[in-house]
Amino acid sequence: MTPRRTASAALVAAPLVAATMSLLISAPANARPDAHTEARAAGSAAAATGSATGPAGDTLRAAAKGSGIRIGTAVDMAALADDAPHRQLVGAEFSTVSPENVMKWEAVEPTQGTYNWAPADQLVDFARAHGQTVRGHTLVWHSQNPAWLTEAAFTPAQLRALLRKHITDEVRHFKGRIWHWDVANEVFNEDGTLRDTIWLRNLGPGYIADAFRWAHQADPKAKLYLNDYNNEGLNAKSDAYYALAKKLRSEGVPVQGYGMQGHLGIQYGLPSGVLENVRRFDKLGLESAFTEVDVRMPLPADPIKLAAQAQGFTTLLQACLLAKRCVSYTVWGFTDRYSWVPGVFDGQGAATPLDENLTRKPAYTAIRDTLALASE
Ligand code: XIL
Repeated sequence: MTPRRTASAALVAAPLVAATMSLLISAPANARPDAHTEARAAGSAAAATGSATGPAGDTLRAAAKGSGIRIGTAVDMAALADDAPHRQLVGAEFSTVSPENVMKWEAVEPTQGTYNWAPADQLVDFARAHGQTVRGHTLVWHSQNPAWLTEAAFTPAQLRALLRKHITDEVRHFKGRIWHWDVANEVFNEDGTLRDTIWLRNLGPGYIADAFRWAHQADPKAKLYLNDYNNEGLNAKSDAYYALAKKLRSEGVPVQGYGMQGHLGIQYGLPSGVLENVRRFDKLGLESAFTEVDVRMPLPADPIKLAAQAQGFTTLLQACLLAKRCVSYTVWGFTDRYSWVPGVFDGQGAATPLDENLTRKPAYTAIRDTLALASE
């Protein structure tokens, strides 16, 4: 689950607005079509049922309003409950939310047969009250599975039945309230071979198609996504996703979306060919989303690193805005106060658009200005 990138060039800090303008101006005026219209429509529907006041003022959400994409964040439920300024920003700054942990298998079924939906229900309720959609995350993964599942010696047939039940029960529980489901998370290795997981070993490669079919049966209206890291640019991993998506679609498997996590680091350089990559999924008829964007750096932060970071955020955002069917851009936490990065990547951090005091960093302004420009 640990995203590691290998390139070594540093991101170049460039004049941000100028770079943004030249890229966006090259987009045809009609380059915001069906999926974007639909993202807007999903927004109005959610807002109509919500009770909170609409987005106003100087926020990412307001800037994104006419852009055709939703702007999102992952939400940590303890932070949402305990930190009022943080909670206010989740509601004001974003139009879609993702559960950082509370929909994962180990969280929803810590003991076999005993579900705990309460924290995830709270997020879904919060989203509804604030006119936000929810990206469900995630149904089949090699990580954050409950110990009762991974440490017992289930037979392949038992594991298949357990996975089917897990997907069916979870998707059914949230039926009608989830915009996108990250159905299959991180199924490929960097070289494009399938990752060796409990699922591949026991069920064979068909587990991916099965997962999508089971999810679709349980909620036919949710958009179902593949999701991974290091699959943003053109490389062996994104090639494998392209081939898989093409094959699944030709077989009638209900896969509708391509998710790119977007965990970058300024010391690794930008992924290359991001727009080309997203566009080839456009052409396959899939929608796409950036699902977990953050741009980490070796600590301490300084102005040059922060400028490079802003460029990392906007490079992915511009690709989303310029592609036909990219419908959302979600950051994996919006403040360094709660980011997962320092706990996982030694000596690295400062990976989000707001610092630990909730002060806006250059990345925040760059994201907001890029959205505003696209909304004009
Ligand atoms: C991370 C969470 O942010 C952490 O709180 C947790 O301890 C581990 O998982 N890819 C994913 C996310 O798909 O679910 C991961 O989230 C980050 C990497």
